[in-house]
Amino acid sequence: VLRAAQKFKLPAQFRGRTLCYGLIGPIFCPRCRSLLAASIGLNEEQKEFQKVAFDFAANEMAPHMAEWDEKEIFPVETMRKAAQLGFGGIYVHPDLGGAGLSRLDTSIIFEALSTGCVSTTAYMSIHNMCVWMIDTFGNDEQRHEFCPPLCSMDRFASYCLTEPGSGSDAASLTTSAKRDGDNYILNGSKAFISGGGETDVYVVMCRTGGSGARGISCILVEKGTPGLSFGKKERKVGWNSQPTRAVILEDCVVPVANRLGAEGQGFGIAMRGLNGGRINIASCSLGAAHASVLLARDHLSVRKQFGEPLANNQYLQFRLAEMATGLVTARLIVRHAAQALQEDRGDAATVCAMAKLYATEECFKVCNEALQMHGGYGYLKDYAVQQYVRDIRVHQILEGVQSSVIP
Ligand SMILES: Cc1cc2nc3c(=O)[nH]c(=O)nc-3n(C[C@H](O)[C@H](O)[C@H](O)COP(=O)(O)OP(=O)(O)OC[C@H]3O[C@@H](n4cnc5c(N)ncnc54)[C@H](O)[C@@H]3O)c2cc1C
Ligand SMILES: *[C@@H]1O[C@H](CO)[C@@H](O)[C@H](O)[C@H]1NC(C)=O
Repeated sequence: VLRAAQKFKLPAQFRGRTLCYGLIGPIFCPRCRSLLAASIGLNEEQKEFQKVAFDFAANEMAPHMAEWDEKEIFPVETMRKAAQLGFGGIYVHPDLGGAGLSRLDTSIIFEALSTGCVSTTAYMSIHNMCVWMIDTFGNDEQRHEFCPPLCSMDRFASYCLTEPGSGSDAASLTTSAKRDGDNYILNGSKAFISGGGETDVYVVMCRTGGSGARGISCILVEKGTPGLSFGKKERKVGWNSQPTRAVILEDCVVPVANRLGAEGQGFGIAMRGLNGGRINIASCSLGAAHASVLLARDHLSVRKQFGEPLANNQYLQFRLAEMATGLVTARLIVRHAAQALQEDRGDAATVCAMAKLYATEECFKVCNEALQMHGGYGYLKDYAVQQYVRDIRVHQILEGVQSSVIP
């Protein structure tokens, strides 16, 4: 972890700066909150890029998160700025433009970024997962062609597994890829694709063989390929700073050279990607919970009822303590899973799924409780807490888990 972290070069303006671990501006408090310090137990390098990520979240994302949500803006330029800090390919090899960091480092970064905007960070986590899949399962030609512009976020990626008739039962997917000389002809449709329509590289799981997981391959389809089109933009409860669309493939001709790995390996590639994806999505929930606990604490100290600040109420103090405990336990299991995946331990896939299951549920409860502590104000869009609640709700729905945890 240390060696990898050293490769991560911080731009001059960030080196040695003392940065806030809390939230600043209209939403965030400028002082470091030792109670919840997400930096405890980290090494110096990790603390340094964690600060960079918190600072980026506070300065470049948090001031815009409400507007991106309201106007459904996909903040391409902001993400490119984040990519300059190495956040476009965090766990991708440095020779391809990646930051070469570990899974734990990645989790720390996504947790910090999502305090500034969960939805944007969650899309970035899917993008990172796709770049890692190409780096890991692609041949040298594919890696060098696709990864550098994705790491810099000059181009954006989408992960295409789900179909209208195939959600939890992902191995039942029916999008077909029929071999025709040096090409595949793809037919079918993908549902709920994050970034769909606005991204450039589609990592498509499709059927080249018989039924079941072993008949699935993974093929890269580039935007602009004839036969590739998109459904209408979905209207969503949260995650509004990133578009979600169906991806439609109609006699879409793609070179065989765009296949990642061998025929039949696609499902395994998709699942390997999701191991890290689950840690990343869970990390985004941690950031939302962190931000929400601080917001609730600040609100309780300002809001007076029954002649004194609500913060003096012992019931609410105890509730806040339970929320902070929920956040910290969730963070522990997520970091434990990240370490297990980094070490490629035998239980890594299961622990990643457990971490995602636990953290996304626990953090949703924390954010929802924080909203409750705001009373009626929590239900108003003038207050940020409702957006964290809306944005992380979907983390309990997507990227699966239960079936990977059943003992
Ligand atoms: C905003 C958003 C973005 C998304 N982004 C992407 C993306 O980028 N790429 C992608 O490929 N997919 C994406 N998805 C799809 C997501 O992964 C699926 O929605 C998810 O896998 C669930 O599938 P489903 O919606 O078909 O639900 P279903 O599979 O129909 O499940 C419905 C309910 O039944 C439960 N259930 C299912 N099977 C069982 C069972 N055997 N036993 C008990 N309960 C069961 C489920 O847990 C769920 O509660 C996204 C979804 C959303 C909402
Ligand atoms: C793709 O689907 C279209 C329309 O359903 C069909 O005409 C065509 O033959 C299919 N192509 C292949 C290669 O299966």
